[in-house]
This record gives sequence, C-alpha cells and structure tokens, in this order.
Amino acid sequence: MDFIDLKQQQILIRKNVDKRIARVLDHGKYIQGPEITELENKLSLFSKSKFVLCCSSGTDALVLGLIALGLKPHEGVIVPSFTFASTAEAVCMLGGLPFFSDVKVDTYNICEESIKNSINKAKKIGINLKGIITVGLFGQPSDMDKIKKIASVNNLWVFDDAAQSFGAMYKGQISGNLCEISATSFFPAKPLGCYGDGGALFTNEEKLYKIAYSSHLHGMGKNKYEYDRIGMNGRIDTIQAAILLEKMTIFKSELLKRESIANRYIEKFLELNTNIKLPKLLKDTNSSWAQFTIQLPFNCNREKFQSLMKERNIPTAIYYPIPIHCQAPYKNFPISPDNLENTMKLSNCVISLPMHPYLSPENIDYISTNVDKIIKDLI
Ligand SMILES: Cc1ncc(COP(=O)(O)O)c(C=O)c1O
Repeated sequence: MDFIDLKQQQILIRKNVDKRIARVLDHGKYIQGPEITELENKLSLFSKSKFVLCCSSGTDALVLGLIALGLKPHEGVIVPSFTFASTAEAVCMLGGLPFFSDVKVDTYNICEESIKNSINKAKKIGINLKGIITVGLFGQPSDMDKIKKIASVNNLWVFDDAAQSFGAMYKGQISGNLCEISATSFFPAKPLGCYGDGGALFTNEEKLYKIAYSSHLHGMGKNKYEYDRIGMNGRIDTIQAAILLEKMTIFKSELLKRESIANRYIEKFLELNTNIKLPKLLKDTNSSWAQFTIQLPFNCNREKFQSLMKERNIPTAIYYPIPIHCQAPYKNFPISPDNLENTMKLSNCVISLPMHPYLSPENIDYISTNVDKIIKDLI
C-alpha cells in the first residue's frame, strides 16, 4: 500500500498528459510558454482570484509574495511553528524575523489568542511586526475572519500559505482567495501537484501581482535586460504547466473523493470507538484533505505504533516531529509568551494515515481496523 498513490491517477490521465507534453515539445517554448498563461487563467477562474502567478515552487511563491508585500530585513512576521519549514524560511530569506505562534489542538491551525499574545510581546520587545502568515495545515483553512480582524486592528497584512489547503472552502470562499495574498505548492504529493516543482501566488491586488511578476523574472522592468528591482528566477517550467492543465480537469472530483475517504475514516473510527483524536473541521469550512492526521493517546508509543503499522503494510508519516522554532537554525527567533504548548504537544502525538483520492474502501477499513487494534494492544 502507498501513503500517497500517484500511479492510479496517472493511469487515468496519462494519454492526455502525453498529448499535452508532446504539444510543448512541438512548439518548443519550454520557458514562458503559452500553457503557463492558460493555467493561470484556469486557476484564476477556479479560485476567483483576479491575479494568479505560477512560479517555481510553493516556497518561491511565499518569497515572491513577501517581496510583493514589501517585507524588509528585521521586520517581523507572525507564523505558526507547527508547519513545514518554508513558511518561516521564506521570511528569513528576506532577512525578516519569523515570530512563532501557537496552533489550536483541534484544527492544527494558528491560534488567534496566541497571535494576540505575540503582538503584545512584539510591542514590548520592539519588533516591528508587518504581517501574519496563516497555514491551512493538512488541508483545512485557518479561521480567516477572526485572523483578518486581529490583523486589521493591528495594521498587519495576512498572507495565506495554502500549500496544503488549496481548493478547500471557508465560508463559501475558496482557499487561495481568503485574504490579500495566498500561495500554493504544486509539489507532486499535494492535492494539486505536478511532476516536479511548481507553485502559484494568488491576489486580487494588481500592485502586488505586478511586483511579484517582475520579481519572478529577476526584477524585469518594461524591457528584457532592464531591471526595476532585485528579483530571482522564479519561473515555472512550461511542461509542468501543461501537466497541471490536465490535472486541473480532475481536481474538483478528486477533492470530493478525498472528502468521502476522510468521512469513511471518521465513520469507521467512530464505529470502532477508537481512542484517538480525529480531525475536526470548523463550521462552514471543509478541507482539501492533503493529509488525514490523527492524534494518538498520550500513553501510546508512536514509534511502536508506526512500526506495527508498517508490519501490516500500512505506511504512516509524522507531520511534523520537530516544531520549526525548536530546529537549530530557528532557535533564536522570538516565540509567543504561551511557549507554543499545543505545538509541542502535537508534535509528539500526531500521525498521518494514507490519503489520496484512489484509496479503496477496503483499504480504509483495513487501515482503521488495524489502527484500532494496535492502539488497544499498546495501551
Ligand atoms: C505548508 C507548506 N508551505 C510551503 C510548502 C513549500 O512548497 P514547495 O515544496 O513547493 O516549495 C509546503 C510543501 O511541502 C508546505 O506543506
């Protein structure tokens, strides 16, 4: 059994992907080819975001977004610590200071109270905070209305790292268009992934788009080899855009499949009365189910659990075993006064189960029955 099975999806779309790639090979515009604009238009329609910039990766989308927002060295940005490194790394790449804040135990997303605590601490220690990066961890968007309110009172921008949550809904709006600017990743294992690296930036503000656009072409001005700013090579490959165009045709149906798989997992675990904490969704919110993550009881040895699952041919993964603020390169950055207690707790007890749109009902049942049995044996 695979943790994420991309082969079954490929069988479905292979013919058309081959055709799309052949078209790129025929026209030969490997860089900045027409498929990129076609994809940006499709993503704009899908997300209802006015401007979409496809770029080289999710990490680069975060960096480009921060350049567009004008982040300068020593300026602070509130970020969760329970996330993938890129969220904080992008801030550091521009010389900014990630200010680590806690998440909520039930949704895994940044906690509004912790944001407020961080803002107060930043004022006290003289950090010039500029914004908040939210992360829709495992697929569920953050509670954006509450966060935007705090941001607006404190004159901060909100940047959504939707690398995992792109396509999920929050109060009738799609993740990718929940605040002034959002980024996503097309890493192959993401809900919308390509066959290499890629990412995209979404905004309704033309000014932000224009700066990001120029920055992803080395800061290009009106003419080639004329520069308005210091930028980077942040381009997506035409071939990756071509592949994503084909993936887009099944994305919506795959999101529904992920949802029904998550629901079957939940039903099974409730039926079995398994001693775990199940994923919890906010009201009027759904998830793109990038991951199906559960919390093991405190007295269940996670390593042992994982190895017993492996013996039964069930792969599992831990996202994330060490919070970012505890990692060597990030140890000296400020953290919220609550000491990120939830983050510390979660990093010790979360475990993700296989999740992809083609996971069969038999496999879901096999996985949940074994999770239940192993936990009962271990505690
Ligand atoms: C929350 C989050 N942010 C950013 C990224 C970075 O995306 P990429 O790998 O495309 O640079 C990822 C990807 O793993 C992610 O999960």
